[in-house]
Amino acid sequence: MSSRKQILHVIAIGFLAANRVAAEDTPALGQTIPIEELAGLSTTVYPDGEGLPPGSGTVQAGKVVYEDQCSVCHGANGEGNMNMYIPILAGTGKPDHGFHWSTGHSWPYATSLFEYIRTAMPPFNPKELSTEEVYAVTAYILHMNGFLPEDGEVGKSTLPDIRMPSQDYTSSKWEKEESQY
Ligand code: HEC
Repeated sequence: MSSRKQILHVIAIGFLAANRVAAEDTPALGQTIPIEELAGLSTTVYPDGEGLPPGSGTVQAGKVVYEDQCSVCHGANGEGNMNMYIPILAGTGKPDHGFHWSTGHSWPYATSLFEYIRTAMPPFNPKELSTEEVYAVTAYILHMNGFLPEDGEVGKSTLPDIRMPSQDYTSSKWEKEESQY
């Protein structure tokens, strides 16, 4: 066997051994997940509110969450910091730096805001906010954008009713798909 072949041989055996250990360490890999179980694991939220968990949160409660866990990066008023690639959460339309509209004016659905925050924010501690906190901080971001009053509240049944302005100037795949039914 040439030395190159010997090296490949050793690498191949190494892979096989590593895979055997990995398979023993992981639970039930290769088993089909029943569709009902999969639905329970899904975190997708649709514009019509499907997938939203029960609960609600007020703008006032959201202010506390925001100041505690979000403003350090996104700024006291959601102004972001594009030098650090931190998105602008609130504000009017097109900012002067031109390459990122505020979240409030570029995302068409408040339900997506909920889903994103629930899944990804804050980045160093994602999925740690409670459902109520996610509703509340979503309400606060909507308020900073002027879409909810100071004493406002959003919840499972009301979040889909928030009409985001970018619905008027973006095309929605969702509406197109929905209109086929
Ligand atoms: C450590 C800094 C940091 C903290 C704290 C933080 N964020 Fe973010 N956030 C980011 C960065 C960076 C991104 C962009 C991530 C990307 O595009 O992949 C982001 C993206 C977002 C977006 C999507 C914006 C868009 O238009 O794409 C939302 C909404 C958001 N954050 C909300 C929150 C909320 C609510 C909190 C508090 C619970 C929070 N963030 C805390 C850094 C932070």
